[in-house]
Amino acid sequence: MNIFVIGSGGREHALAWKLAQSPKVKKLFVAPGNAGTAAVATNLPIAVSDLPGLADAAQRLAIDLTVVGPEAPLAEGIADLFRARGLAIFGPTKAAAEIETSKVFAKDLMFKYAIPCARSRTFTTLADALDYVKGHAVPIVVKADGLAAGKGAIVCQTREQALQAVHDMLSNRVFGPAGDRVLVEECLSGPEVSLLAFTDGRTVVPLVPACDYKRVGDGDQGPNTGGMGSYSPPGFFGPELVHRARETILEPAVQALAREGRPYSGVLYAGLMLTRDGPKVLEFNARFGDPETQAILPRLKSDLVEVLLAVVQGRLGDIKVEWSEDACVATVLSSAGYPGSYQTGFPIVGLDTVDRDVQVFHAGTARNERGEVVTAGGRVLAVAATGADMVQARQRLYANVPRVHFQGYHYRRDIALRELL
Ligand code: AMP
Ligand code: GLY
Repeated sequence: MNIFVIGSGGREHALAWKLAQSPKVKKLFVAPGNAGTAAVATNLPIAVSDLPGLADAAQRLAIDLTVVGPEAPLAEGIADLFRARGLAIFGPTKAAAEIETSKVFAKDLMFKYAIPCARSRTFTTLADALDYVKGHAVPIVVKADGLAAGKGAIVCQTREQALQAVHDMLSNRVFGPAGDRVLVEECLSGPEVSLLAFTDGRTVVPLVPACDYKRVGDGDQGPNTGGMGSYSPPGFFGPELVHRARETILEPAVQALAREGRPYSGVLYAGLMLTRDGPKVLEFNARFGDPETQAILPRLKSDLVEVLLAVVQGRLGDIKVEWSEDACVATVLSSAGYPGSYQTGFPIVGLDTVDRDVQVFHAGTARNERGEVVTAGGRVLAVAATGADMVQARQRLYANVPRVHFQGYHYRRDIALRELL
């Protein structure tokens, strides 16, 4: 089979790395990819926003299955376009992806179908939102409805902060149209977990859970990032909780979307908080997580091509998805200055000196005119190590990270540390 992966981050390198291991694969393409995907696939210089260009390439190259990494092309309807052209694609339609692209839609769906989540109200006018916040205790969470590059949820510890957040979204329009509707939401507390599930619209098969580290610094200090590390499995979210979340959250969500005339096929990502009343939804995403995928796929024993094909062909119920008992920990090596401004073009050395059971997934990398692998983004690499347990996985990870080098890089040293305490 010829397989096509869309995207250019660490998630897409991890997907390409795993897909390339399948005996079913004849040719593997990634658009636009990075220096890491170029080692396991052929990169195509097509932007993820160029949907007709991607579909043309899929037809020209006789692609049998396309796998979508990021949310933006899903939000633009890439799955609808490919299906209309008779091309098999792993990822939900635009209407089904609204579970990620509109937090108001997701909330209304959860309320209607009694899926556990934070209580909230939706506002479209500044005066109503301000009134509500003034009469409400803090902490409270203010969220923009639409896609806001991970910055659209603001946990407000004071009323002033909440009033400011509402002003910023509804009046200053800092998120543009994504903030034209605002959710003001009850603040939940508890540990967070990302629970993803494969679904063909009927059968729901959870992946192993993973934790994500969003803050830039150790001990969750500093500003938010696109994700600085991940590990799987989290000890606090064992098989019984996965089972419970599947029955109370994932399956009801998939059924709800089907009943609303938006059947969902692909991978559904539930960002959960384990509250005293059990798991509750913080958000849904319509795709694989980044960097969760880099810590999850090294644990997958099954052939990923077979799994994704079963999803696309509506026969997920007929296959078994198998996972290793290993632990996996991944930390992201970032450019100096990230998540603020940073320089690129620094050579990356030592990539071939890591141990064989350690993966270096590329994110922001490229080759320069001399053929050297250089930095090309804020998050540059995700190093992922597996081990018989979390202690061993962490030891391998942090023993290998210093063998890779580029100017000024930083990374978190506390990924999965909480599992050892
Ligand atoms: P979201 O984009 O909705 O996943 O929110 C981003 C982050 O904000 C989450 O990972 C949580 O840490 C936090 N958050 C979102 N909603 C809530 C909530 N209702 N209560 C507490 N924290 C929240
Ligand atoms: N790791 C968070 C996300 O992929 O949205």
